[in-house]
Amino acid sequence: MMPLLGLGTWRMGESGRRRAAELDALTFGLSLGYPMIDTAEMYGEGVAEEIVGEAIKGVARRPFLVSKVYPHNATRSGTVAACERSLKRLGVERIDLYLLHWRGGARLEETFEAFHRLRAAGKIGDFGVSNFDRDDMEDAARLDKGLNGSNQVLYCLSRRGPEFDLLPWMRERSIPLMAYSPLDQGRLLGKPALKKLAAEAGCTPAQLALAWVMAQPGVVTIPKSSSRARVEENWGALDVELTPALLAELDRAFPPPETRQPLAML
Ligand SMILES: NC(=O)c1ccc[n+]([C@@H]2O[C@H](COP(=O)([O-])OP(=O)(O)OC[C@H]3O[C@@H](n4cnc5c(N)ncnc54)[C@H](OP(=O)(O)O)[C@@H]3O)[C@@H](O)[C@H]2O)c1
Repeated sequence: MMPLLGLGTWRMGESGRRRAAELDALTFGLSLGYPMIDTAEMYGEGVAEEIVGEAIKGVARRPFLVSKVYPHNATRSGTVAACERSLKRLGVERIDLYLLHWRGGARLEETFEAFHRLRAAGKIGDFGVSNFDRDDMEDAARLDKGLNGSNQVLYCLSRRGPEFDLLPWMRERSIPLMAYSPLDQGRLLGKPALKKLAAEAGCTPAQLALAWVMAQPGVVTIPKSSSRARVEENWGALDVELTPALLAELDRAFPPPETRQPLAML
């Protein structure tokens, strides 16, 4: 079980000038009820995790926390050390879901061994991967039969490749897909078809794009914004009603894949 909608943090912590606005957006998002935050040791080289740590300090209900280890740190001992640094920056004793950011660097066996150690020690609730295509997932599942802690990949209306084989494969095994860049980093929002359908549905293009992602079985998502207004707008995606007719229009405007497409990565 994991929350359907969370706050992304990529690009946060990269500039001291934006820090206050980023912290404010996260704090405000938590006050609205966002139940999850996604971060990584890579974001702002640790500063994004510090900002998340500040945002969650003293909150009544701590959100579900997701963080990620760099592949070059993902050795047997390196993973444990990286996780401990992340815990310190976040100011918590446990990360709910800890992911390998992308494949490469250390051998997967070593990373998984470290994840098991961290889970046994209570430092992470569960573990998973990110940017793994279907063949990578098959390798991961061969190594770890119990793997079901999520695969975070690029997935949105304009990049539906995972629907061809990765998502069905994950659904069969009850592994949630965590969709990153659900707004295609903002690029999706100017598409005339999305604007028109959103206006007809009485919502904004961002809300429609997010509602569509969340309507896909087995998919959760983590849009990022450093603005209060957009954090609030994105939260409104939970109230969008997707009728069968609207879903069919979206399929016409943004067709599902007819052939296998290699996983795109940002
Ligand atoms: N595992 C991975 O390799 C990986 C890769 C990429 C992302 N991620 C995770 O996924 C999260 C989301 O992906 P993302 O940040 O790449 O892209 P995204 O959420 O699709 O889009 C973020 C961009 O859209 C803008 N935006 C957000 N809401 C908006 C709205 N309602 N109207 C107009 N513009 C809006 C944001 O600007 P403002 O901030 O100015 O509002 C930002 O520039 C990341 O933050 C990160 O946590 C993971």
